[in-house]
Amino acid sequence: MDAPTGLDTVPPGADRDLPNEPPFALRGRILTPLAAGGSRDLADGIVIVDATGRIAAVGPAQDRSPAERAAAIDLGGRVILPGLVDLHAHLWQLPNAGIGAGLDLLTWLRRYIFPMEQAMDVPAAERLGPAAFRAFAAVGTTTVVAYTAVYADSTDAAFRAAEAHGIRAIIGKVMMDRDRYDLAVPDSEVLERSLSESDALCERWHGAAEGRLGYAFTPRFAITCSPELLRESATLADARGAWWQTHLSEDRGELAEVARRFPDAIDYTDVYDRAGALSERAILAHAIHLSDREIGRIVESGARIAHCPSSNLFLASGVMPLGRYLEAGIQVGLGSDVAAGPDPSLFSVMRVGAYAQNALRVVRGDAHDALDPLDWLRMASLEGARSLGLDDVVGTLEAGKEADLIAVDPALTEPLPASATGPEAEGALADPRALMSRLIHRPHPEMVRAAWVRGRRLPGPVGWEPPGATVATAVTR
Ligand code: GUN
Ligand code: ZN
Repeated sequence: MDAPTGLDTVPPGADRDLPNEPPFALRGRILTPLAAGGSRDLADGIVIVDATGRIAAVGPAQDRSPAERAAAIDLGGRVILPGLVDLHAHLWQLPNAGIGAGLDLLTWLRRYIFPMEQAMDVPAAERLGPAAFRAFAAVGTTTVVAYTAVYADSTDAAFRAAEAHGIRAIIGKVMMDRDRYDLAVPDSEVLERSLSESDALCERWHGAAEGRLGYAFTPRFAITCSPELLRESATLADARGAWWQTHLSEDRGELAEVARRFPDAIDYTDVYDRAGALSERAILAHAIHLSDREIGRIVESGARIAHCPSSNLFLASGVMPLGRYLEAGIQVGLGSDVAAGPDPSLFSVMRVGAYAQNALRVVRGDAHDALDPLDWLRMASLEGARSLGLDDVVGTLEAGKEADLIAVDPALTEPLPASATGPEAEGALADPRALMSRLIHRPHPEMVRAAWVRGRRLPGPVGWEPPGATVATAVTR
């Protein structure tokens, strides 16, 4: 087993003992959902990552040979979880995170977001891209599905940054041919340009970095898109085997405007359905105000929903009836929706999601069972991967999958110093639900100590710098 290499540049405080590159083996507590259902919690487990970055084995340490046990790196109190999958984020909006709480969507977009995206030229993207991916890795996100802005050149820079960083990313150039902010492009050209530039980006990046990068055709939402743009983008996504993403039914003011602009559509979902866009490759963000008819069509079509509860409460959008959707059979993963969501951390998203569902039960009498903390972990990992059709690649810690994992230190989440808690607190986190509850409800900004994609450690968490790195970005912790 190779020892960790190249860590001379690691600042004090970073976890130097954790490996940078495969192959390696880690020994300690391992908690993961399982593809077949349920979860696995190994108090003393070993995960073995082979030289290609795949998980060769996961199981109790006692089942491994003495040599394998001796070669494994001891995690101490740190816990290994699967890397988290953020199904919906806006890369270039990150600097605005936390600003504009309580506004309605359309006001917030016009006041803060469109001007910010409008400024995203290549130098800005080259500055922001690497820092943004580090910020995602720092909170345990190893796969991110992201929108950029309407510009092809700065979207290309986003892909280059993701390629260099090592994160798994599905990215799309925002498409808008109505109410748009790229005023340099004449009306007569905008549709064709948006389609051809998106297609060229897809051709260049979809499947790049040996499948670590992917393309999503990204019409922003019905208000800023013509029926032609919706239809043609869906046709291209289908032809290319790429994803197709947009926003659906987020805010009441948005719904009224969509009804005004698309008077022939049965409802908001039908606007996308008529474009031929609903399929298992479609990722619909929000979708919180759906009728029974819309729920039925989404289930039928196999389209995925990116549930973004912290965004839905940051902007006064609403609360998703999540239990109803899951019961109906909708495929749901979680999204941070930065910057309408104020925090890229999916631990925060899980927390706000749990609170929102609790509120729904007591205020509106929602009768569905509460999700427990392990259900939220499953949604933030396996269900996100499943939503992307990548559940045979990532999303759990199981042999044969690629080694996208994170190391989390629960000691940082303790309410009091260990010396003060006494024997009564000992073993409190032995139950996996208790452990996940702590990580979700008392997260610490530095609790993610390391994140790996395909066994390669990502720049981002806790001051970890890539070997030889000289540039510190504003977002490093
Ligand atoms: N709907 C259309 N664009 C956006 C956006 O950038 N963020 C959110 N939350 N909703 C949108
Ligand atoms: Zn969004």
